[in-house]
Amino acid sequence: MDFEVKPTGSGVGAEIIGLDLSRPISEATQRALHGVWLEAGILVFRGLATTPERHVALSRCFGDLDVHPVESVRLEGHPEIIELTTRGRNTPIVHYIDEAPIVGRIPWHSDMIYTTQPCRGALLRMIERPARGGETGWIDTAAAYDALSPAWKKRIEGLEARFDFVTNICDMRFARTKNLRFGTMGSQDFGSFPPVAHTLVWTHPESGRKSLVLSPIHLIEMVGMPRKEGDALLEELVEHTCSGRFTYVHDWQPNDVVLWDNWRTMHMAFGTPEGLHRVVQRTSITGDREVGRILA
Ligand code: SIN
Repeated sequence: MDFEVKPTGSGVGAEIIGLDLSRPISEATQRALHGVWLEAGILVFRGLATTPERHVALSRCFGDLDVHPVESVRLEGHPEIIELTTRGRNTPIVHYIDEAPIVGRIPWHSDMIYTTQPCRGALLRMIERPARGGETGWIDTAAAYDALSPAWKKRIEGLEARFDFVTNICDMRFARTKNLRFGTMGSQDFGSFPPVAHTLVWTHPESGRKSLVLSPIHLIEMVGMPRKEGDALLEELVEHTCSGRFTYVHDWQPNDVVLWDNWRTMHMAFGTPEGLHRVVQRTSITGDREVGRILA
């Protein structure tokens, strides 16, 4: 193997050391990286992706890449990369926490869980790091599932929850940030999606590991259960999963890349204090499997 694997120190994810992205990545290395990704769920590559080309080449080791439907978020000349920035063409979303304005905060979620084809994973690259804030966190929901008692595992097996496309985080029903208030919505047109149902437990098609599907931004209610009873169950599960025990928070430096397995993790953009600048670019690995069902 022409790289080393080191624990991140948080008990979640792994760091890849010594990978040379200045030359093509061999098939053997790609296979080895894929295996470590399946094992760890979250991979950190510090300072390695110094150009969009290297970011894309690394991303392709893990699957086909999506081209984002909204052209204005794509990086010119690199349709597989989208740019999320506190300045530029798309006005970012602003919220207030304890009356302090915060830009681009996206609470815990799994990408595209509000569809029946959630993306397979993504690679986020730091371009411009703000002087303060701007961290990203990940939760390993397979570790969260493993830590449940046998009684809880039995209780939730086969149960479904409903997920909606929620754009305003003030409308979230679970894991709400305290003292959060709405600011401005931003200028992106996100489209609309019908509600879907997913089972609370997924078995990973490649690793066979079970994980929890919660994505609190999009989580609405249990399917086929009285609201009060369903909410009590979901509150306990969300609290367990978001307790910090299964979380890795990355302290970004420019050209760091973090890769996640979207089929067993959730992630969160903590947001940047207004007035500071942050620019990240990301690629998304195409989700090639149908899961869940559209609700009438
Ligand atoms: C994302 O949810 O993809 C963005 C994460 C971030 O900007 O930290």
